[in-house]
Amino acid sequence: MRLISGIKPSGSLTLGNYLGAIKNFVKLQDELKDTDILIFIADLHAITIPQDKVNLRKNIKDIAALYIACGLDPNRTHIFIQSEVPAHNQLGWIMECNSYIGELERMTQFKDKKAKQVQGVSAGLLTYPPLMAADILLYDANLVPVGIDQKQHLEMARNLAERFNHIYGDTFVVPEPYIPKTGEKIKSLSDPSKKMSKSDDDEKGCICLLDDLNIIKKKIKSAVTDSDTKIKYDLTNKPGISNLLTIYSCITGMAIKDIEAKYIDSNYAQFKADLAELVANEIKGIQDKYNDLIKSKELDAILDAGKDYANYLANRKITKIYNKVGLGRKR
Ligand code: AMP
Ligand code: TRP
Repeated sequence: MRLISGIKPSGSLTLGNYLGAIKNFVKLQDELKDTDILIFIADLHAITIPQDKVNLRKNIKDIAALYIACGLDPNRTHIFIQSEVPAHNQLGWIMECNSYIGELERMTQFKDKKAKQVQGVSAGLLTYPPLMAADILLYDANLVPVGIDQKQHLEMARNLAERFNHIYGDTFVVPEPYIPKTGEKIKSLSDPSKKMSKSDDDEKGCICLLDDLNIIKKKIKSAVTDSDTKIKYDLTNKPGISNLLTIYSCITGMAIKDIEAKYIDSNYAQFKADLAELVANEIKGIQDKYNDLIKSKELDAILDAGKDYANYLANRKITKIYNKVGLGRKR
């Protein structure tokens, strides 16, 4: 069994990334003892929208350090940077050539991003899902933990695996998504109809793992909530408080109904104050480890080892794929 996932270094990591993705990477790492685990930093995906080169490099290192600070164990999980494994691009191109423009144009994330960015929509924004499929299929991964926003891309990876297997014979494992039951989509604190996102213009809506702890508490205390005062989970009528309950549940592991019971006689202010402390406490632990790691030489050694292992697996696979497709000369 093999598990793979990645995160784009297109900004500072958010509480959404942590609760929707990284916390699950760690949980699965600890539960699935016999599974080979690869977690990478998807820098090739980040440049589908323009990036400042200094920021990009900083974000890559930050994510690597945060992965470990959040609980990924480099002795157990191979951590690497996508662009340091050229086979991702090699297979990405083959996947692009097996994708149809129509299906790529129908991807929700492409449509959303295109709508937001009227000018200069890069071809990479359109061909991002075949590259993501390559990231996964290259390693014959069975399991891919992601937030719900990536479900459609994962479906595409499954389709591409089946399509390729049908044309060229059995080559790829068809991967399964792993989407958490709670926390699959953490919402913006200022507009709970939107996903919490690192590219959000409204800073109040998004908590970054490297934010100052007092600012984090302030953002939670001033999160948009609904007009009545009951602490009750109701996504349709009370999206604000429901989002905060979800965050509470992810951090503490408590079931939502138990949290509701605990706060039955409380008001929003008390609940938010408690949640602010909980979140700040959890993030403090992460920041302390991050601060130690980011200065150390250890991080580069971990990324070098991850790169070597990923290249070893990926190069073996890409040779087989080239032979199946008939590229170059037989190797
Ligand atoms: P990205 O930041 O778009 O590269 O996303 C990296 C991972 O974090 C993916 O698995 C996403 O589904 C997950 N993710 C990003 N934002 C959120 C959010 N607000 N809630 C839950 N999961 C998220
Ligand atoms: N597309 C993912 C995101 O934006 C990041 C990603 C790239 C990924 N390649 C992947 C996630 C492969 C899982 C597996 O969130």
